[in-house]
Amino acid sequence: MSQSYRVAVVDEVPPGTGKEVMAGDQVVALFNVDGTFHALDGICPHAGGPLGEGTLRGATITCPWHGWQFDVTDGHNCLNAKIRHASFPVRVEGNDVLVEVE
Ligand code: FES
Repeated sequence: MSQSYRVAVVDEVPPGTGKEVMAGDQVVALFNVDGTFHALDGICPHAGGPLGEGTLRGATITCPWHGWQFDVTDGHNCLNAKIRHASFPVRVEGNDVLVEVE
């Protein structure tokens, strides 16, 4: 069963940035791409790096540990289409950013 968690306020994650947050027990990498929020599993599938601390360029996040890149809008790996990282629904209610996780 999925549950929504308030993970940030809008101003905490300005456009073009990301942040590592918690949604219950789930580490989430939250990103703001031109005012639209996106959320991925915050743990990189390569070796566990913190995706929320990576570098965001457009809709592409680069993991700070070894440089794997993911499209934050759907979680697909930019070099290997077979790798798709978990993503989570995000919505904004007033000034709150909510992420829905299982
Ligand atoms: S842990 Fe993310 S690229 Fe290696």
